[in-house]
Amino acid sequence: MSTPDATGTAARTTRLDGVRSAVSFHHLSGLTAAVTYVVMVLGAYTSAIGAGLSCPDWPTCYGTWVPFLHSGVVADAPYTAVQIFAEWVHRGLAFALGFLILGTVIAAWRWQRDRRLVVGAATLAVALLPLQVYLGRLTVTELLQPVVVTGHLSVALLILLALSTATVGSWFGERTDAAVGGE
Ligand code: HEM
Repeated sequence: MSTPDATGTAARTTRLDGVRSAVSFHHLSGLTAAVTYVVMVLGAYTSAIGAGLSCPDWPTCYGTWVPFLHSGVVADAPYTAVQIFAEWVHRGLAFALGFLILGTVIAAWRWQRDRRLVVGAATLAVALLPLQVYLGRLTVTELLQPVVVTGHLSVALLILLALSTATVGSWFGERTDAAVGGE
């Protein structure tokens, strides 16, 4: 965001909605990185308990968005409720994460435009998102092919790295701006 300074020049502020806000870009991108981390840990847990195919279809799970609303579905499934829950929550949280990543890249283009590293890293994260969702789909439809599962993990790591870079880059930038501007 730009505000006019004493000389009439547009000076950048780093807050999300102007100088009075306590929320900065790095809070949003940090939250998005943290949720990515949780989704990854949940994915590893899903894999570790052998639940990768506990929702055998995609994007629904046993043909429904919420299998736990249909008691017969879970009871008749060849997996435990915990296995189905882990995979289902992994997918659901990944869905919510998609919106957080989208919000982060929009905020980066709007408020961090001068920081090319931050904008580039956030843009990389959003560019990798469709690939990651597609690989998530393939893990199920291709029955956990090792190359697909490895690809899914690799892209997850890249997304986390990109979001961490955006967070640290904007945090340093904001501190530098504050030091130079005497905030
Ligand atoms: C940004 C979104 C996502 C991230 C960051 C992510 C990350 C991960 C990670 C790190 C693992 C563990 C891999 C391993 O231990 O080798 C995993 C597992 C898995 N993910 Fe995702 N995932 C995402 C979205 C999805 C989506 C949309 C699906 C849709 C079906 C999905 C399906 C799976 C499955 C089935 C596994 C278990 C694979 C196995 O049993 O080995 N993921 N995910």
